[in-house]
Amino acid sequence: MAPAQSDLCRLTGKAPRNHQHESVWSRLLLACSVLICSLVFFLLVLYTFCDSASLPICHLPRLWLTRPCNGLSKSPSLGVNSATCPQWTALHPTKHRGLSEDLDVSYSSEDFKQRAIQVLGDAVRVPTESYDDNGPVGEDSRWDTFAELHRVLEASFPRIYESLNVTRVNTYGLVFHWQGSTSAKPYILAAHQDVVPVEAQTVDEWKHDPYSGYYDGTWIWGRGTCDDKSDLIRQLLAIDSLLQQGFSPARTLILSYGFDEESKGIEGAGHLARYLEEAYGRDSFALLLDEGSLYTDMGGTVFATPSISEKGYLDVEITLSTLGGHSSVPPSHTSIGLLSRFIAVVEDSPHQASLSRTGTPFATTQCLAAHHPMYPEDLRKLARKALTDDAALKVLQERLLASDPLYKAMLGTTQAVDLIEGGVKVNALPERASAVVNHRIAEHSSVGELQQHMIDLLTPLAIKYDLALVAFGSNVTCGGAGQVVLSDFLGTALEPSPVTPTGHGPWAILQGSIKAAFESSPARNNSKVVVIPSLSIGNTDTQFYWNLTKHIFRFSPSFDTDRFNGEHTINEAFRADSLSEGVRFYTKFILNVDESDLP
Ligand SMILES: *[C@@H]1O[C@H](CO)[C@@H](O)[C@H](O)[C@H]1NC(C)=O
Ligand SMILES: *[C@@H]1O[C@H](CO)[C@@H](O)[C@H](O)[C@H]1NC(C)=O
Ligand SMILES: *[C@@H]1O[C@H](CO)[C@@H](O)[C@H](O)[C@H]1NC(C)=O
Ligand SMILES: *[C@@H]1O[C@H](CO)[C@@H](O)[C@H](O)[C@H]1NC(C)=O
Ligand SMILES: [Zn+2]
Repeated sequence: MAPAQSDLCRLTGKAPRNHQHESVWSRLLLACSVLICSLVFFLLVLYTFCDSASLPICHLPRLWLTRPCNGLSKSPSLGVNSATCPQWTALHPTKHRGLSEDLDVSYSSEDFKQRAIQVLGDAVRVPTESYDDNGPVGEDSRWDTFAELHRVLEASFPRIYESLNVTRVNTYGLVFHWQGSTSAKPYILAAHQDVVPVEAQTVDEWKHDPYSGYYDGTWIWGRGTCDDKSDLIRQLLAIDSLLQQGFSPARTLILSYGFDEESKGIEGAGHLARYLEEAYGRDSFALLLDEGSLYTDMGGTVFATPSISEKGYLDVEITLSTLGGHSSVPPSHTSIGLLSRFIAVVEDSPHQASLSRTGTPFATTQCLAAHHPMYPEDLRKLARKALTDDAALKVLQERLLASDPLYKAMLGTTQAVDLIEGGVKVNALPERASAVVNHRIAEHSSVGELQQHMIDLLTPLAIKYDLALVAFGSNVTCGGAGQVVLSDFLGTALEPSPVTPTGHGPWAILQGSIKAAFESSPARNNSKVVVIPSLSIGNTDTQFYWNLTKHIFRFSPSFDTDRFNGEHTINEAFRADSLSEGVRFYTKFILNVDESDLP
């Protein structure tokens, strides 16, 4: 059957289009506002970033950099400093200073380490695998293992289950509510209970069974040790220790633990987000901290790089349909041949990477230029110049792109043709062929912009081969030879996340807490850590939490070298010493947020 064409197509013979008429006045008004805004913005940027420049504006006090911190009753002072990437000094709890110091001692003990190893091992021994094709909770019995994990958690942390209110959301989502004594906005620590499945044919390659939770004296082995049971267990250990010391919070603390982060996140964080928004309200949390980037040693200086934003996501399925028939009388191009041409055009037109002054990768670059001891001197100068000089910005962009393929992913939308399907028999013309292009959308772009890019790119090809193009639910062009459909493959389109503000408030508390934890660690010999914002090129459960707070951070308090072989691979193992170090961080963070006057 020939693919149908839209009535509109038949009438006009061309693509439906929107015509917008704007009056000259409204355009003028718009142009003026844009001009004024740009000028104000330019002055603000200049004002923020210049430190010793000779421009008069630079001598005015930079209020948002030096004002006592909004949200911090005690203001951490600027330590190692730079106007482009200010670093707060370590923020130690003051109201609960004694408690914090007592816990530091306890966390350094062998007893504490052994207990942490035991509880992480117990959690890892429950194979809470998350599958891409999992059915809904209640229908698919593969979710049942999460009930076992809940039993293990309850047995490991009886004090928490006795003292906090535990709510199960969509059966296996866990919310712990620790009521504060004041009406200050609550905050959320998040993690996920699920793990990526272990592929059966790789089990032999594991040094220790993937669900053994075995401790060999240095490493704890098993799927989930790194991602993400170590975060979950370390948060619970911090809370359990605080409870044991008789701490009761001023600010309500919520723990939110999803159970399908490794597949779509909808059953877990999707439901949890809805529950939290209904129970507490929109924008009702002071901040949220979830799993994310790690500590890395760069040229002898340790950096922590909490992510303040995440790229967007879109899987575009391209489906070609043409008439079938016997392949003894073939047309010049079958569905498969046509599909190949579409794929070739997509691959030959990659998205342009772009370093924008307002984007997170630019902030990260400025921070590295300011604090990385091995940063190439010429690049450092270039980065500095790029703050105000457009030509330098372009050169910097090209230099970064040439230096590391990772920059292509950070600065632009990426695309990868990951799936292809078509044809059933050697002597039958394929009636249908399809491919899926996976996209990670740049922070400065959007789902709509990407869809329009694909439409603009593929329309000429559809016309050339007389194919009707239907893109994301709209009829774009008509054609008699067949049809090409562009669609959101599994309905998982995701906009790039909002960008969490840095500077005062939650960011400063996170930065100060990381420093306090790090610098008070016996293992780190009082060494320093630089804390800089980053863009996450993958997605986490935080994609569901945007409505709850503007202050979302993605950070896991361990080193990249605390992971034996990374995550999602064989031989996932976590360094036991990193358990106490992480608990130290969560404890200081909880105490600091608790005693802050964050709105
Ligand atoms: C596109 O064309 C088809 C076939 O004529 C029609 O059924 C459908 O309603 C049209 N869709 C839109 C969005 O115009
Ligand atoms: C548990 O919930 C009850 C009723 O809502 C509340 O009064 C109590 O303070 C909560 N306890 C904790 C520890 O959050
Ligand atoms: C800290 O110092 C001790 C003793 O000098 C040393 O053995 C250890 O490796 C140092 N640790 C770090 C992280 O530098
Ligand atoms: C956030 O709020 C918007 C508007 O109320 C709603 O449409 C959306 O579903 C919410 N997002 C999530 C993840 O709950
Ligand atoms: Zn994870």
